[in-house]
Amino acid sequence: MSALFQPFKLKDVTLRNRIAVPPMCMYSANDGLINDWHQVHLASLARGGAGLVVVEATAVSPEGRISPGCAGIWNDQLAQAFIPAVKAIKAAGSVPGIQIAHAGRKASANRPWEGDDHIPYDDPNGWQTIAPSAIAFGANLPKQPKAMTLDDIARVRQDFVDAAIRARDVGFEWLELHFAHGYLAQSFFSEHSNQRDDRYGGSFDNRSRFLLETLAAVREVWPEHLPLTARFGVIEFDGRDEETLAESIELTRRMKNGGLDLLSVSIGFTIPGGRVPWAPGFMGPIAQRVRDEAGIPVSSAWGFGDPKVAEHAVASGQLDQALIGKAHLANPHWSYQAARDLGIEKPSWTLPAPYAHWLERY
Ligand SMILES: Cc1cc2nc3c(=O)[nH]c(=O)nc-3n(C[C@H](O)[C@H](O)[C@H](O)COP(=O)(O)O)c2cc1C
Repeated sequence: MSALFQPFKLKDVTLRNRIAVPPMCMYSANDGLINDWHQVHLASLARGGAGLVVVEATAVSPEGRISPGCAGIWNDQLAQAFIPAVKAIKAAGSVPGIQIAHAGRKASANRPWEGDDHIPYDDPNGWQTIAPSAIAFGANLPKQPKAMTLDDIARVRQDFVDAAIRARDVGFEWLELHFAHGYLAQSFFSEHSNQRDDRYGGSFDNRSRFLLETLAAVREVWPEHLPLTARFGVIEFDGRDEETLAESIELTRRMKNGGLDLLSVSIGFTIPGGRVPWAPGFMGPIAQRVRDEAGIPVSSAWGFGDPKVAEHAVASGQLDQALIGKAHLANPHWSYQAARDLGIEKPSWTLPAPYAHWLERY
């Protein structure tokens, strides 16, 4: 029996398999408000058989959006727009998750297909970015952010809490905190982007503080019986990999003690030009170290789109859950196709009955 197609129970949520659609920005919202496109996109991914569908990075405040087209959840109207998608994902037998996010110094950018660079200061579509320190990311994102005051830090933490409450109230059953990819939380943890000399910068304890405090505050409002997860870049590929990974694993242990149920193991991306060793499933062994040394379930993405690679990662104990991103954009029925490719006798059982009944004949 395939490991990838075993159910996965986390807290009171049981996923039908180990396949998840990771958050993927559509850059297509209006002032944070999602629209019909998002409903179609999310529902189609769920009907394709994945156990979990996580909604794209959804900003906890307007300034936390990557681009003007990013989804938001900073008020009730924005949150309620997710209800049809939540219902559709459930109706398709999948579990609805959402990633809540603040882009920090990488905010105020053009969409990828419109340049992927910072919107200039004098353009009314852009805005002032914030970060732990006034250090620009560089490369395509040259804008210097404003260094956050202690009040800013408290406000953003509260924005995460308010976003979690709204996500809970519109029916999401899986919450992911975006602590990865060089966005705000990741940039607190990294010495590349955090050079504060107060209690939020410097030592490991201080660089971890924003993440741990945000997690603790969210855990208080997110239901105990539902999974609370985070996506975090455990490695930068900046030449200090062992040191960074050791720190990341220690932070993961502390997050676990603070109520984290699963870590989505990713890459830091706090510097342009990190030497990422791209290859199919290359994050598997790194995720396994986090899983074994921090003692927490893990998922990971980046190159698991070949079903055999995903199956190997789960079967060999690297991952509890495989995140299949771009391959799902190409084929929302990735799970069904993967079951066929892996030689599962009745792959149609991965799909809802109204499809499965007919597809068993082919
Ligand atoms: C269009 C697109 C949008 C993405 N948006 C997000 C996002 O909102 N949050 C996030 O954590 N990762 C985001 N990612 C990264 C994916 O979640 C995933 O890690 C990446 O695509 C690698 O997995 P893959 O090789 O299976 O595609 C995005 C990727 C793509 C292609």
